[in-house]
Amino acid sequence: MNSPLTQQELQEAYEFLSKKADFPLQAGIILGSGLGDLADLLERKISVPFHEIPHFPASGVAGHKGVFHFGFLDNVAVAVMQGRVHYYEGNHPSRVTIGVRLMALLGVRSLIVTNAAGAVNPNFKPGDLMLITDHLNLTGANALLGAHVPEWGERFVDMSEAYSLQLLSYAREVGEAGNIILQEGVYCAMSGPTYETPAEVRMIQRLGGDAVGMSTVYEVMAARQMDMRVLGVSLISNMGAGILQQPLNHEEVMETAARRKTDFINLIRGVIFLIDKE
Ligand code: HPA
Repeated sequence: MNSPLTQQELQEAYEFLSKKADFPLQAGIILGSGLGDLADLLERKISVPFHEIPHFPASGVAGHKGVFHFGFLDNVAVAVMQGRVHYYEGNHPSRVTIGVRLMALLGVRSLIVTNAAGAVNPNFKPGDLMLITDHLNLTGANALLGAHVPEWGERFVDMSEAYSLQLLSYAREVGEAGNIILQEGVYCAMSGPTYETPAEVRMIQRLGGDAVGMSTVYEVMAARQMDMRVLGVSLISNMGAGILQQPLNHEEVMETAARRKTDFINLIRGVIFLIDKE
């Protein structure tokens, strides 16, 4: 595993990136597996591959492009990460948060995190969109592990409203207005990169999880430490292991995302519109 992210490294990354966009940002969006198409809608887009940003770990996952974009979504200035950094790629948990911390330094106050996830709740089905109401971090680690960096916020961060009630209500409003059916539930993070065993899926069910994935929670911890509001959206790409008698694979995750991308994009657009109206 690489070393923890330092303030000096973050500062160098910020100095590089802040020269690329000279307009105030209204919101940040992190696009998960197969959900990258939203970046195509950005106007006046400035794109910076992760590997050009100092100290930014490269993302090597298929369906994760690894590009940081600035641009306008329906005339609202946003930062968009197409792809993300994962713990299972060997990154220290603090390093996974670099993109979120950069967004915070660039002035983003509202963050939308998205991912593909397996359903643990048997009432969900592949293709469902789930608003994340809370999370379970079962990765065994934490994004704030390591020396405390006072510039980033508190040492002990309150997570009682990790997912903003205001942004959740915006998402529900957009769902109702646009006839987009939305599930709601608890996202459980596992380290991956193996998918879960059927016993692990049953465990998560008993612990109160509704969906399971390998990302997002470290980003949310960093966002809360830096006082950003968070909306989380999971695209249910498959049923969790053992719920159906069939193996899981990354292609299925990508196919399901492709099938539901219109509703997904409309949901995010609608929420960004409401944030801009505040
Ligand atoms: N488990 C963990 N991560 C995932 C899954 C899953 O079933 N589907 C998509 N990401």
